[in-house]
Amino acid sequence: MSMDKPKVLVARKTFDDIVDRLRPHFEVECKEDEGAWSQSELIARLQGKAGVYITGTEKIDAALLDACPGLKLVASMAVGYNNVDVAACTARGVLLTNAPDVLTETTADFGFALMMATARRIAESEHFLRRGEWKQWGVTMFAGGDVHGATLGILGMGRIGQAIARRGALGFGMKVIYHNRSRLAPELEAPLGARWVEKDELLQQADHLVLVLPYSASSHHAIGAAELSKMKKTATLTNIARGGIVDDAALARALAAGTIAAAGLDVFEGEPSVHPELLKVPNVVLTPHIASASIPTRRAMASLAVDNLIAVLTGGKPVTPVNPEVLGER
Ligand code: GLV
Repeated sequence: MSMDKPKVLVARKTFDDIVDRLRPHFEVECKEDEGAWSQSELIARLQGKAGVYITGTEKIDAALLDACPGLKLVASMAVGYNNVDVAACTARGVLLTNAPDVLTETTADFGFALMMATARRIAESEHFLRRGEWKQWGVTMFAGGDVHGATLGILGMGRIGQAIARRGALGFGMKVIYHNRSRLAPELEAPLGARWVEKDELLQQADHLVLVLPYSASSHHAIGAAELSKMKKTATLTNIARGGIVDDAALARALAAGTIAAAGLDVFEGEPSVHPELLKVPNVVLTPHIASASIPTRRAMASLAVDNLIAVLTGGKPVTPVNPEVLGER
């Protein structure tokens, strides 16, 4: 009986009870330990599989798709999908689903926390204390910038950007400016007092600049040496979007030189490697790509990927398709 079930591969260790929801419908092969398979092992294990559950790190490109002709669905538990060649999927009739919405608030919480930790020098001062260097209290010891009342700049005003803006405007009395390809509707801007500005104005005026835009060829190194030099010396930069949006080498130089005050980074070029110069500067808070990592939200993300697998491979409609044109929808 189970021989007739479609086969799916769960390419990362995830919540057992959520994966178990797949078992009545599919023959399931699941990664049993942490970490990712190599590309060749992933391809080998995908043979005969109709669907694959991935995260934001598995690389789904034309070569993989050509080597796995039975694959119909790539269901990612991430919202960002720059690890997937969408055009290559579409050209081969492979559907991609992602996990929007369920992580918006949790990711915004983290972005705000990272921005606050950066502005108020929480990590830097904690390291100082742990090193046993706290011998006396000082008036300007680890004095940073204020968050409340400051100007919050947001580059990329999608769902997560708006959720961060809400926290800043409504919780902390911040003035919100943003830059995005498209302007928000006035009824979304008004309650936040949010103002669309050109990118240069955003760089020049933000006290705390938060990056929340998707990674693509056009956002590669959107923040490099030239952009950093336009920012205030007292400003902070927080990146919870994707590695590669910031030129990490240029940022490390800017932090060392005092071009900006501090940075908070959850994502890195070539992660899990971190640029060695970033590890040397004190005025940067570094976290290992965990912005969506609350247990309830990671469960919701996994659950949505599983819902997509079940819906699509049992003949239903995807919940959150990225390229629905594959199904003849528009
Ligand atoms: C995480 O980075 C995601 O895109 O979900």
